[in-house]
Amino acid sequence: MDVIPRTRAARWADKEPIAAIVADALHSGPLAQWLVPDATCRQRILTDVAVIWVEHAMFFGDIQITDDLSAAAMGFHRYRSIPPPSNYRSRLADAAGPHARQFELLDQLLTQVRPTEPHYHLAVLAVIPAARQRGIGAAMLTHHESRLDRIDMPSWTETIHGSQDVYRRHGYLPRPALTLLAGPIIAPMRRNPHPTRGSWPDNIARPATVTAPARPQSDAQR
Ligand SMILES: CC(C)(COP(=O)(O)OP(=O)(O)OC[C@H]1O[C@@H](n2cnc3c(N)ncnc32)[C@H](O)[C@@H]1OP(=O)(O)O)[C@@H](O)C(=O)NCCC(=O)NCCS
Repeated sequence: MDVIPRTRAARWADKEPIAAIVADALHSGPLAQWLVPDATCRQRILTDVAVIWVEHAMFFGDIQITDDLSAAAMGFHRYRSIPPPSNYRSRLADAAGPHARQFELLDQLLTQVRPTEPHYHLAVLAVIPAARQRGIGAAMLTHHESRLDRIDMPSWTETIHGSQDVYRRHGYLPRPALTLLAGPIIAPMRRNPHPTRGSWPDNIARPATVTAPARPQSDAQR
């Protein structure tokens, strides 16, 4: 049986490795090919754009990574509306050059269908190709959903058509699909929380009932 690496919260110093994981995971897929058809610069552009979003998630969301840097789950706390990454348009233009328009089109399309109610937005679940089919993606989803169930929070994600099974097994249900012009089908998925499943474990080290210590009598009561 494969050993699943430990998952931990990412730190600022992990920014570049996370961007590399995301770029590696997306590079050969149809969405990346649509975003950056030119294979010679795709990896670099995906990495540079990922850095922008990784930084944004460090402030407005969270990122979990595996200790061996084979996988990352990046999400945003959309409990109320959050701003775009600071200086996004100019940073995107610097990062993506002539391909910036494709990233903007994708952002616009995804924003239109995203829920307006408070939710967690699992923006990217990325497992590098060499580490796939070992249960790492599923383990990261399990970790993620146990936290969301505790706070009774729905989750939203966007998957590429054909990769939904792993999400479906974790309670995500497909929403109406979106088709990018001359591109792949994006399948948004939503998961409702299961609050009882994610209840906090009982702390057996603590007594079940806590008796307040007797308060000393004041001088007036004596
Ligand atoms: C989608 C993605 C995150 C899945 O990651 P993963 O680590 O391969 O996922 P898992 O290993 O948990 O599950 C994948 C499959 O492997 C199978 N599997 C799990 N453990 C296994 C094991 N020990 N041995 C063999 N197969 C196994 C699962 O049953 C699952 O089967 P399925 O293809 O029928 O669904 C990964 O493919 C990826 O990063 N894709 C590119 C990025 C992407 O599209 N992300 C989603 C949108 S942002």
